[in-house]
Formats: sequence, C-alpha cells, structure tokens
Amino acid sequence: MIELSARVRTMTSSPTLKLVQIKKQLQAQGKVILDFGAGEPDFPTPENIKNAGVAAIQGNFTKYTPTAGIAELKKAIQASYLAEQGYAAKDNQIVVSPGSKYGLFLMLQAVIDPGDEVIVPLPYWVSYPEMVKFCGGIVVYADHLQPDRLFKLTADSYISKYSARTKAVIVNSPSNPTGKVMSGKELGELIAFFHKKNILVIVDDCYRKIIYTDGEYPSPLNLVAAAREQVAVVSSLSKTYAMTGWRLGYTIVSEAIAAAMTKIQEHSTSNPCSISQKAAVEALSGDQHEVQAMVEEYRRRRDYFARRVDEIGHITYALPDGAFYFFADFSHYIRKKKFSDDNQLAMDILEKLNIILVPGSAFGAANHLRISYATSMKDIQEGLNKLEEYLRHDR
Ligand SMILES: Cc1ncc(COP(=O)(O)O)c(C=O)c1O
Repeated sequence: MIELSARVRTMTSSPTLKLVQIKKQLQAQGKVILDFGAGEPDFPTPENIKNAGVAAIQGNFTKYTPTAGIAELKKAIQASYLAEQGYAAKDNQIVVSPGSKYGLFLMLQAVIDPGDEVIVPLPYWVSYPEMVKFCGGIVVYADHLQPDRLFKLTADSYISKYSARTKAVIVNSPSNPTGKVMSGKELGELIAFFHKKNILVIVDDCYRKIIYTDGEYPSPLNLVAAAREQVAVVSSLSKTYAMTGWRLGYTIVSEAIAAAMTKIQEHSTSNPCSISQKAAVEALSGDQHEVQAMVEEYRRRRDYFARRVDEIGHITYALPDGAFYFFADFSHYIRKKKFSDDNQLAMDILEKLNIILVPGSAFGAANHLRISYATSMKDIQEGLNKLEEYLRHDR
C-alpha cells in the first residue's frame, strides 16, 4: 500500500459535508429528513443566471479561460464591488477561483510557511484550521466564546493572540456559524494593529450580502487607507446567488499575492469553469431583486426561529446579524438528557426525529448546535414542533 503524505494524514474530513452523505443514506432508506444542517441556500439559482449559463454552453464558451478569470467577469466584479464597497480594485488584484474556499486555500498556500501562526476565529468555519495545518501553519484561536459576550467579534480577541510568529489573521464576517458581523470600529482597530506589524488580514465575507442589520457592511479595503497591501477580501457567489454548485468565488488582494495565487491556480485547476464565469457576470451585473427577496425570507425565518427558541427556553443564542445560521448553547438539555456532549445530542435528534443539526464541536464550540434556516418555513415549523416536544422530555 502506498503511504499517504504526512500533511493529508493529519487532515480531518469536513463534518458538514459528512452530514450531506448521512442525509443521502437515510433518504435512500426511505426516511424523510428535515435538514437544518445545510450550508447552502434552499432556493434555486435565479432564472437570469441559469439562462446566462445555458447561453454560454450554446455559444460554445466551453474552453479554457485566463487563469485568474475572464476580463468580462473581472469588470463585473470591479463594478459591483465599487458600487457596494466603494473600493476600486485593479484587474491584477482580482483572482477568480472555483469557489471562495479554493480562493482561500490558494491565498494560504501563497503566504504561509511551516511554523507560521494564523489567527482564526473561534468558533470557526470548519475549513480554516484544516487549511492552515495543510500549509504547515500553526492555528491560534481568537476566542469569541466568552459567555457574556454573545459571540461578539472583537479586535481585541485577535490582538491578544498576536506573536512574533503571526503571519496572517482570518476574519469571517458575517460569521459561519454565529451570524455575527464585526463592526467597522472593531475591524478598523484590528486592521490598524496588524498593518503596523505587516501581517495579512484576510476577510472572508462570503455572507456579506445576507445581512439583517441596518448599518452598512464595513468595507475592509477602505477602513485603513495605508493598509491596502495587508488586507485581502475573499468573496463568493455561492450563498448570495444560490450558486453553490457552480463553484465561483473571487479574491481581492495585493498584486503580489494575486500573482502568486494565480501561479498556484495555473498548476492546479487551470481556471474556474468557463460557463460559471459567464453566469457570474449576469449574477453580479443583472437584476438584484431575487437577492433581496431571499434575504427578506431568511430574515423572516430568523425572526420566527428566535421566537420559537425563546418559547422553548433554556437555549442561549445571539440573534444572527447575517448568514443563515442559528448558533445556540444547548448545555441545559445536554445535562437534562444526561448526554455527555453536543455530538450525542445531535445524534439522538437525528435518530429519533430524523432532523439534521450540526454539533457545535465541529466549529470548536462544545455544547452548542448550529441550526441552518436555509430551509423552507414549512420544514422549520415542523422541525421546531418536533424539537420542542423532544426537549420537554428527559429521554
Ligand atoms: C465562512 C465560509 N467561507 C467560505 C465558504 C466557501 O464557499 P464557496 O467555496 O462555495 O464559495 C463557506 C461555505 O460554506 C463558508 O461558510
């Protein structure tokens, strides 16, 4: 047997993608599953975007493209980012990649050497620690789990973890799994501090347009004018436009890092899918009404969730400012049902109620569960009815 590389042997599988497999197995057994584990919109990709994809195929736009993305898409990214975030990105600052996940992977590969420290948020999106470790980097956690802070994303939680070995920090706002948004004040403080130390601040804003707060989403590349070289934005079309399967994301970063990322992409995927790039042009420059309608629907579900969870009682959570996840502390019910942890609770709920919830441990937060409301209101109502009944009883 061929021995696997040491890097991959220490890598763990994505717990959220594993749930997708479990769901398929249970459905194959004829079970009806209520899925609150999903990290993707339940809406279909809007018609105008699908049509642009079809037109790309019919127009034979089906060959290799420039590695970092076609000019037409870069223009659309520049125009939408300028209109929305007030930052004029140059062509060679943009790298389009097959999903923002791969964009982040490229960036970390481009800047992290073995032994470098990368500060990631806790709770974290499951791929951050694995990607850092895959580069030989050391993961350091910016703790946002203090009980009285309700997951508030603060500059201080990062700054307190700075060391001479810190090479990069990752901010995720709105956060997966908590839905919290880092305020402009906190993000500005964070960037100002790390800029002085010449450390890269990577802002994963893939839920940027799914936001419920009235305030603007702070623009990372404009907050500290002198720090543009040290700030990178990793963005996605997956969640905003319900395009998860099209695999399309983009990064805005300094020219030097963009060139390095492009080199790695050249030798790994060559380019993002040509058809998806054409669809992305339409997504970014076409009608945005469907995005607004989706966000309004998520907001309605979030508010319903909050009301029901309050009624159930003994579940601590922070109302999400964005994204489509509820992240809640179920310690009371774990104790009440005499389970040892959140994994046991989630598994029992799956076995007894056919409801998928993601254990908080997957995000580094024991005793929590992540509940996605990227699922229909009908399923949410049915699921919460079942959950309420289940939680009321000891076993
Ligand atoms: C915080 C965060 N970043 C990045 C991604 C990757 O998204 P994609 O690769 O589909 O653009 C996800 C997907 O779940 C996410 O939750």
